[in-house]
Amino acid sequence: MEQRKRRNLILIGFMGCGKTSVGILLSYRLRRTFLDTDKRIEKMQGRTISTIFAQEGEAAFRQMETDCLKSLLSETEGQIFSTGGGTPVREENRTLLRQLGTVVYLKVSPDTVYERLKEDTKRPLLQTENPKVRIEELLTARQSYYEAAADVILEADDKSLGEVVEELAQLVLQQEEREDGR
Ligand code: S3P
Repeated sequence: MEQRKRRNLILIGFMGCGKTSVGILLSYRLRRTFLDTDKRIEKMQGRTISTIFAQEGEAAFRQMETDCLKSLLSETEGQIFSTGGGTPVREENRTLLRQLGTVVYLKVSPDTVYERLKEDTKRPLLQTENPKVRIEELLTARQSYYEAAADVILEADDKSLGEVVEELAQLVLQQEEREDGR
């Protein structure tokens, strides 16, 4: 019997919501390939995101994000992607995300983000006097974009990493069973 194509799974959500950790563990659990768009941009550019922001500004980075998503459209099926926290803000990116596969929004509260990232030095947008206020403002401004881009919203605040990974693994496996008509 011909095997049906597996859909990609794309993780979106605010900085610190766990996209990368969840993506890596989920890729082990499901034996799928994992790709992080921030890491891909850094590799292609040969410099860190902080350096890109410092040398060329945020707008240039946003264009690199869109170009990165476009480049993924030709990637093989059944992969797991994690994206930067600002990716779904551009309408064009939301369309690209949906074209890429099933989009999962890992939803966390500003307090969770702050606790995880208060000592962070790698996210240019949080290097401010008051990162707590910055997180609240940015998350409020982006919430509707995350929700608009998502096929599935997973509330991750009160769940362990393992629980989130297992929930997503079941979601993917059940979706594939349904699509295979088993
Ligand atoms: C950003 C999030 C970062 C990275 C860049 C901008 C954002 O990714 O893309 O610093 O605008 O929220 P993570 O969400 O993986 O931290």
